[in-house]
Amino acid sequence: MHFSFLIFLFLSFSSAADEADAARRRWAESPYGLLLERILPPGFEPAMLPEPASRGARLTRRYCVQCHNLANPAMHERRKWPPTVERMVLRMQGKGNLGPLMGEMMAGVEAPTPAEKKALVAYLRRHAQKPLDPKKYPEVNARSGESFRLACNQCHALPDPRRYTAKEWPEVVARMQKNMEWMNRVVGSKPLPGEPRLRIEEINTFLAKYARP
Ligand code: HEC
Ligand code: HEC
Repeated sequence: MHFSFLIFLFLSFSSAADEADAARRRWAESPYGLLLERILPPGFEPAMLPEPASRGARLTRRYCVQCHNLANPAMHERRKWPPTVERMVLRMQGKGNLGPLMGEMMAGVEAPTPAEKKALVAYLRRHAQKPLDPKKYPEVNARSGESFRLACNQCHALPDPRRYTAKEWPEVVARMQKNMEWMNRVVGSKPLPGEPRLRIEEINTFLAKYARP
C-alpha cells in the first residue's frame, strides 16, 4: 500500500503542538510538517512498546520517532517489517524518495548502524501482527465479510479475529476509526460519491463471530 503525499499536502490541519520533542519541532518548522504529523496517529506511547527495556524497544524509541508518531510493532505482519524498515532507513540516510524535497527538514536525523537495523527488524517482527488466514475464515471473502475486508486492510494486513474477545474488539475498531480519520482514509462521515462507506456494525459482527472466546 502506498501513501499519496499530495493528499497529505492538501490536508487542512491546524497543529496543536503540546509536546516539545524534536519531531514536533520539525513538524512545526517545516512546510512538510502536516504531512509527517499525519503519517501515523498519536496515542501509541513509548511506554506501550512490548519488552520496553529491550534493545529493540530502545532502538525503536531512538530512531522511529524522528519524523512521525511512534509505530506499534503490532501494526504490521512479520513479512512487512523488513521492507518497511529498509524504506525508513533510506530516508534516515537522506536517500528516500522525497530526499531532495525534504532535505532541509531531514538534516539532523540519525540513521541506525547495520547491526542496529537488524535488531530493529528482529524486534518489530517478534511483536508483529498475526494476519488473518482466509482459509480458516472463508467468510472474509463473502458478502458478509466485505465491510471488514475492505475497511481493515487499507493500512495493514487483516488481523486475525482471535486476537481479541468479542467484548474487546469494538474498542479496537473504534480506535481504528480514529486512525482512519487521522490518516485520511475512508471513514464514511461525509461519503464521496463512489467511495465505500465504513460500516462499523458489520465489522464488529464479523469480528465477534470469530473472536477469541
Ligand atoms: C527520516 C524520517 C523517518 C524516520 C526516522 C522513520 N520514518 Fe517511518 N515514515 C516516514 C515517511 C516519510 C513515511 C510515509 C511514506 C512511507 O510510508 O514510506 C513513513 C511511514 C511509516 C509507516 C506507515 C506506512 C506503512 O508502511 O505502514 C510506518 C509503519 C513507519 N513509517 C514505521 C517506521 C519505523 C518502524 C521507523 C524506525 C525504524 C521509522 N518509521 C522511522 C519517515 C520516517
Ligand atoms: C488508517 C489506517 C488503518 C486502518 C484502515 C486500520 N488500521 Fe488497524 N492499525 C493502524 C495503526 C496506525 C495501528 C498501530 C497503532 C494503533 O494500534 O492504534 C494499527 C494497529 C492495529 C492492530 C494491532 C494493535 C492492537 O491493538 O492489537 C489491530 C488488531 C488492528 N489495527 C485492527 C484493525 C481493524 C480491525 C481495522 C478495521 C476496522 C483496522 N485495524 C483498520 C492503522 C489502521
